[in-house]
Amino acid sequence: MTRDEPLVLGIETSCDETGVGIVRGTTLLADAIASSVDEHARFGGVVPEVASRAHLEAMVPMLERACTAAGVRLGDLDAIAVTAGPGLVGALLVGVSAAKALGLALGKPVYGVNHLAAHVAVDQLEHGPLAEPTVALLVSGGHSSLLLVPDITEDVIPLGATLDDAAGEAFDKVARLLGLPFPGGPWIDREARGGDAAYVDFPRGLTSPRDAESHRYDFSFSGLKTAVARWIETRERNGEAVPVADVAASFQEAVVDVLTAKAVDACRTNGVDHLLIGGGVAANSRLRIVAEQRCAQAGIELRIPRPGLCTDNGAMVAALGAELVARGRASSVMTFGADSSMPVTNVTVAPNGQPIGEGAP
Ligand code: KG4
Ligand code: ZN
Repeated sequence: MTRDEPLVLGIETSCDETGVGIVRGTTLLADAIASSVDEHARFGGVVPEVASRAHLEAMVPMLERACTAAGVRLGDLDAIAVTAGPGLVGALLVGVSAAKALGLALGKPVYGVNHLAAHVAVDQLEHGPLAEPTVALLVSGGHSSLLLVPDITEDVIPLGATLDDAAGEAFDKVARLLGLPFPGGPWIDREARGGDAAYVDFPRGLTSPRDAESHRYDFSFSGLKTAVARWIETRERNGEAVPVADVAASFQEAVVDVLTAKAVDACRTNGVDHLLIGGGVAANSRLRIVAEQRCAQAGIELRIPRPGLCTDNGAMVAALGAELVARGRASSVMTFGADSSMPVTNVTVAPNGQPIGEGAP
């Protein structure tokens, strides 16, 4: 770490985590997170208004905690980065407003950045500079995408995405069917360890030869979720117990099989020998094992950040911000707003002066 590497604070409020991270270049100095997940648990999903209110309450405490942990004062910062989208618009606005207030008060540049690009950039904090190009598989409660990333600061090419449920959403919905708590991913992961992954041969969405033409890198998990629901209903109608561990393992295997097969295929077809997996579902133990095996067979170098950096956090936003500063990319004009459906091709928002998005003056 050298003193002339940019010191950047990152703010993340796109969903239910209020994250404030501080990095110097690719070195993580602080990663403060408050989560409102418990407040959403009884609804079985994130309630946008509840998330926005929780961000408001947590923002200043997280800023203070991050600065204390990093041993820096706000005035020391070189730049502020904030998730401008995609995400829940009310939740995003809290972070964007905080970042703009800090930027204006401190006279520092603000980078409104893309949440998905930040999920990719975070790996630099753990494994050093990204290989370019790299293929990135991002799987979380809100997104499932395959990306080709020639340059994380300005060139991100979408290869495919989910047509319906995100991978984490499928985990959460199936967990609910099995009577497991929200968020269900970690519970399915745990249950599946004691189950038989070959117990039920659940469908692998969009993997038929016909799909290979039009949806080669896209995902679909709603058919799988319905298949699990039908299977459980049939069992219950016949008065038979549902083997939770076996169903969890079989469902998880179907998801992991499709995700890893398509990610490896994307690497091969695009001549890329680096794969990065990020997002909350990247914490899944079976996904890590199968991805490792398939990448080893295909001669692909696999990088997965540690679970705490895979789920939403402020450090990932700071990591992308630091890379943007280091490469001399333009910051966002202060008229930028939150863009709930920000396309993945936009790594930053409003770098050229045009106002954009909700809350832009
Ligand atoms: O990235 P993240 O924290 O937030 C979003 O942007 O959505 O991802 C949360 C998602 C949830 O759907 C959760 O069930 C899933 O990641 N998840 C997992 C695991 N840990 C978290 N899914 C499968 N296995 C896990 N171990
Ligand atoms: Zn995310």
